[in-house]
Amino acid sequence: MPRTVQGVVSMAAGEPVVLENVVVPDPGPGEAVVGIQACGVCHTDLHYREGGISDEFPFFLGHEAAGVVEEVGPGVTEVAPGDFVILNWRAVCGQCRSCLRGRPNICFNTHNASQKMTLEDGTELSAALGIGAFAEATLVAAGQCTKVDPAASAVAAGLLGCGVMAGIGAAVNTGGVGRGDSVAVFGCGGVGDGAIAGARLAGATTIIAVDIDDRKLEWAREFGATHTVNSAEENPVHRIKEITDHGVDVAIEAIGLPEVYRQAFEARDLAGTVVLVGVPTPDMTLELPFLEVFGRGGALKSSWYGDCLPSRDFPMLIDLYLQGRLDLDRFVSETIGIEDVEEAFHKMERGEVLRSVVVL
Ligand SMILES: NC(=O)c1ccc[n+]([C@@H]2O[C@H](COP(=O)([O-])OP(=O)(O)OC[C@H]3O[C@@H](n4cnc5c(N)ncnc54)[C@H](O)[C@@H]3O)[C@@H](O)[C@H]2O)c1
Ligand SMILES: [Zn+2]
Ligand SMILES: [Zn+2]
Repeated sequence: MPRTVQGVVSMAAGEPVVLENVVVPDPGPGEAVVGIQACGVCHTDLHYREGGISDEFPFFLGHEAAGVVEEVGPGVTEVAPGDFVILNWRAVCGQCRSCLRGRPNICFNTHNASQKMTLEDGTELSAALGIGAFAEATLVAAGQCTKVDPAASAVAAGLLGCGVMAGIGAAVNTGGVGRGDSVAVFGCGGVGDGAIAGARLAGATTIIAVDIDDRKLEWAREFGATHTVNSAEENPVHRIKEITDHGVDVAIEAIGLPEVYRQAFEARDLAGTVVLVGVPTPDMTLELPFLEVFGRGGALKSSWYGDCLPSRDFPMLIDLYLQGRLDLDRFVSETIGIEDVEEAFHKMERGEVLRSVVVL
């Protein structure tokens, strides 16, 4: 029987989100219904509600979640009811040209559930990143469920479903940060601090956090930043070159602003790598001195979901968490109810939180 749950829905660009009854169909072939236990509020949810991702309203928000599989559809073998899972938004297809070349982490044909969740009047919802998890239950493709050790708390585990994984992966997978490297991270929200934590795990010796908010810089130190720069008060490029003598090996943009990308571009050493993990909006364009794109060498890379492979990375990072080597709890500023998501967006805009996590 399809069930009806309360879910957080964005009806129109820029308008406050509302709680609506959402109809979750029974899982069809290859699908699963997951009971959500916790779901973090990511800046991408706010991008959706501002119309910055697409105009396919209404959106069913929430995509950084962990919970327990309740029901699976025909043919599902990868998970079973009762499994504790983190939801991922890039379920690998196994058959596209990238997967076939042994690169499933950059699968070009990731998929979601084929059925749509709807409002009670039948209006189809666009689930944010193919998830929609600010609700007691959601419908996903079974491949979007990654089993992890149930000893981890759902509040912490869910964070790996998006922002923190994107950040760690931007540093470790996309940026290839290694022992002894210098790294600068621009924007110290959930994603940026994930990148800082990832750089520390990978053995970077200099980790420079850049933000315009001193509170964020203080928190960044707790994740492993060795230096901080308030870029509203001083030129971050000059300061980074002072600290490192020459620029950083890896510069990570974790906001999605062309002017900050330019700072990352200029703050890196010769042959260094720039990683863009912040998400731009459709109106933005980027201008760079073309000769320097050549002359500085190195690589300009974008990081989809931290180039993660959920089946490889989620269980490994949960193990590190349970061993006390990756402090996921530190990302959680507050736990909130499902009715508090709109207020959590405002707290995010005011810089008061790293992650608000809805507990269901
Ligand atoms: N690539 C991916 O797969 C992926 C995954 C998740 C999120 N994201 C994107 O990453 C970005 C960050 O997400 P978040 O949840 O960490 O957001 P957030 O709002 O928590 O953090 C953004 C941080 O940037 C800082 N900031 C804002 N303007 C700045 C400026 N001009 N200079 C320096 N710092 C500035 C803010 O003070 C804040 O600390 C968003 O664009 C989000 O959509 C990307
Ligand atoms: Zn594929
Ligand atoms: Zn997200």
